[in-house]
Amino acid sequence: MLKWVRNNLTMDQESVERIAHKYGTPLYLYSRSQIAENYRKFDRAFSSVPHLICYALKANSNLSVARVLSRQGAGTDIVSGGELYRALKAGFDPEKIVFSGVGKTKEEMVYALRVGIFLFNVESIEELRTLDQVAASLKKKAPIAIRVNPDVDVGTHRHITTGTAENKFGIHKNYIEESYRAARSLKHIQIKGIQAHIGSQITSVAPFLTLLKLLLNFVEKLAKNGIPLQTIDVGGGLGISYNEERPPDPKDLAQSFLPLLKNKRWTLLFEPGRFLVGNTGILVTKVLYRKSSSHKTFVIVDAAMNDLARPALYDAYHEIVPLRQRKGEKKVVDVVGPICESGDYLARARTMLFPEKGELLAIKNVGAYGFAMSSQYNSRPRAAEVIVEKNRVSLIRKRETFPDLIHGEK
Ligand code: LLP
Repeated sequence: MLKWVRNNLTMDQESVERIAHKYGTPLYLYSRSQIAENYRKFDRAFSSVPHLICYALKANSNLSVARVLSRQGAGTDIVSGGELYRALKAGFDPEKIVFSGVGKTKEEMVYALRVGIFLFNVESIEELRTLDQVAASLKKKAPIAIRVNPDVDVGTHRHITTGTAENKFGIHKNYIEESYRAARSLKHIQIKGIQAHIGSQITSVAPFLTLLKLLLNFVEKLAKNGIPLQTIDVGGGLGISYNEERPPDPKDLAQSFLPLLKNKRWTLLFEPGRFLVGNTGILVTKVLYRKSSSHKTFVIVDAAMNDLARPALYDAYHEIVPLRQRKGEKKVVDVVGPICESGDYLARARTMLFPEKGELLAIKNVGAYGFAMSSQYNSRPRAAEVIVEKNRVSLIRKRETFPDLIHGEK
């Protein structure tokens, strides 16, 4: 957890400045206790019903971060063979792994069936038939849920909304019943549940409640037609506060969900990513230069869009604070990185304490979709990652080197 101690930013009682001096910048820094607390908050909220929280590994797939969650008892939501590999390395129980994604390959299906994952979230009839064939070749049955495209708009950024008919995800709600009938006719498919994921950074309960009702409606209809389901998965998407948003808590979700689930035997599944890790990480960066014209003032830092793509991609807001609280003049600035693109910025037209050359800054709430979306663009080695655990600061991913940049090339 982040806290000011005598005007210095600390994470779980450790000085961020000291850590940055030791490991260099740009640096991703995570709080173990915050990850565990976020998980427990979610878990506690739904303790009165059978449930499984499957952490969306894509949000932050660092092994040590993921391991904090596997140790808490979380399952995981994966979207590729690579994520399955990571999930197993991070200690997730295969029986708590769900596999989402519109384009699972046969090789990925074989891998997941061999490992014995909990279920596949199937997103098309062709995928369903392929999965049946692959399972047959292994003499296994593939456990599945069908992903519904509920055609609901959740009012989030268009790049991170996933539940409208415009999006590639899931099977449109009008074709769900026939899809289950098709699944029932396939010998190597075992029908387990139903799933949907409607988008990310959702800041109200209403879309989730609409979704749950829609899924329950399907569950009842299917049961009447002799297709009983055991699991209902409402996906991820719960938002966090980056700026002024006031997203609901898991408790608020539970309050609206639980009355609908009374005396039922279904297991409720969630696939949160951002909620579990978003607020647990900061990106520490150093101010390289400042420059002003009659138009603008730029603060040039050593982190860039290759380290944190969210502002460039989604115009996302991330609060930026100096590691030492101090008095000083405020200015409207653009905080930009060294990459040769105008879109390379971390904050735009931001009113903030005018940083000094060499000053260290923390970019907040970057635990989700931060490092995970980083690249080596402009041949910039990826940043180091560090976690603060109880009285211990551990390097959990080395800073990349120049030889890392050309690894595997000829
Ligand atoms: N389940 C599925 C099937 C998903 O596709 C996703 C996210 C999640 C769960 C987790 O969603 P969350 O709880 O984290 O909102 N890069 C974007 C976010 C992309 C989300 C993709 N899918 C960003 O930085 O905002």
